[in-house]
Amino acid sequence: MPTFSIHTYGCQMNVRDSELLARRLRAAGFADAPAEDEADVVLVNSCSVREKAEEKALGKLGMLCAARRERPGLVVGLTGCMANRLGPDVFALVPGLSFSVGPRAAGAAVVDLVRRALAGSKGMLVPDSERGAEDALPAKDAGAGGPPAPASFVTILFGCNQRCSYCIVPFVRGREESRDPRAVLAEVRAEAERGAREITLLGQSVMRYGRMGFAWPDDLPSPMGFTEPLPRLLELLAREVPAIRRLRFTSGHPLGVTPELVRAMREIPAVCAHLHLPMQSGSDRVLKEMRRGYDRARYLDAVRALREGVPDIAITTDVIVGFPGETEEDFELTRSAMEEAAFDNAFVFKYSPRPGTPSAERPDDVPDEEKRRRDQVLLADQDARGQRLNDRWTGRTVEVLADGPSLRNAARWSGRTEQNKIVVFEPVPGLARGDFVQVRIESAHPQTLFGTVGAPCSAP
Ligand code: SAH
Ligand code: SF4
Ligand code: F3S
Repeated sequence: MPTFSIHTYGCQMNVRDSELLARRLRAAGFADAPAEDEADVVLVNSCSVREKAEEKALGKLGMLCAARRERPGLVVGLTGCMANRLGPDVFALVPGLSFSVGPRAAGAAVVDLVRRALAGSKGMLVPDSERGAEDALPAKDAGAGGPPAPASFVTILFGCNQRCSYCIVPFVRGREESRDPRAVLAEVRAEAERGAREITLLGQSVMRYGRMGFAWPDDLPSPMGFTEPLPRLLELLAREVPAIRRLRFTSGHPLGVTPELVRAMREIPAVCAHLHLPMQSGSDRVLKEMRRGYDRARYLDAVRALREGVPDIAITTDVIVGFPGETEEDFELTRSAMEEAAFDNAFVFKYSPRPGTPSAERPDDVPDEEKRRRDQVLLADQDARGQRLNDRWTGRTVEVLADGPSLRNAARWSGRTEQNKIVVFEPVPGLARGDFVQVRIESAHPQTLFGTVGAPCSAP
């Protein structure tokens, strides 16, 4: 039986796609390789969002194809965003590549491509189709094989129509398409049956769910009286799949933070008090050039509405430094907006021009070393802020979804709170992955809480 291994770059959507591809392959009779260097088939699920991400995937592909000298039958396939960005050019960049398939076509095509590649075919290209994303990731396969994960992902919105000026995602992930709530429900149910206790609903701009080309089915009423699709979906999933004790959704956008959504976050107990709300910049001029559709005040209003409406909410963000023309003054505005928003965590990215995007037409005029400095300043600010915010949790008892031994120290376990904060604790006898435990927080670091387990709060 041929074995496979999948190497994943990029966002949670890619993590989810890799999981679904693995299940497809297992269902077709392939087995997980014990290690990548023993696999008959290696897939690289790639990301195009920054140049660095593409360089890593190309380096990996090059190494794998070179390894074919010692492992002549090795099949190397490319999936994910780079397949769409590079098209047929990829075969010149990576000689020996067996196939390249776009993220929306991969689900339906992968088994056939792998079989043909094992039979000796090379250079097969399957570009994404704009339609049929739903067929690509069917719920019927969602139960097959693999170890259960207590926290899992379900994609609810494919593609992106926002067209921020710096972003490659709309080019590589296609147009926006919302999944039918019944298909989402079936997939969430299947995840619960295989042991998931937490689901994160994914979309590049997830609050656009159901806003276009979509009518909410009449036979799915909202007893809570919601009219917007995302609150309705959250209500539906919470009601129909009680085994899912936590629901999250990402990534957010400030214009999607409506009073109904805030109410859903407050009143549906399963919906976590956490939101990832990318800000990108705190300067109105830069936000306008980024075509983000909001200004600083509007963004901070959304943060205020969330903090007022959802007790103990944690808000995290993405920020880009060194966008073309970003001045010291713009940068300082980002700094102060981050402080005003009081982010629990922040991912800072150095601007990377992406071919074909509008902002790539402009000179990439902030020198690398200045981008690095701005990055470091924001990270130092965030460390101090994270420490300050996390200190407020010491002395409190929080519910943690246990995820298993901690990466840094296998004698201790880690898990996450509703706020998505990582908690490290000593395991108690009988503790299993996927259990909810009460942990009393004793100390805090900027990104981690440390505590002691109290009485188990439930064995789901
Ligand atoms: N769809 C999500 C994010 C997708 S990409 C959203 O808009 O919220 C994840 C993050 O990468 C973005 O939030 C942004 O901060 C960063 N990013 C996107 N394009 C980039 C680029 N060209 N250079 C640097 N960072 C970028
Ligand atoms: Fe890119 Fe903007 Fe879409 Fe996010 S919302 S994927 S930043 S275009
Ligand atoms: Fe990367 Fe594609 Fe996700 S570009 S961030 S893997 S949508």
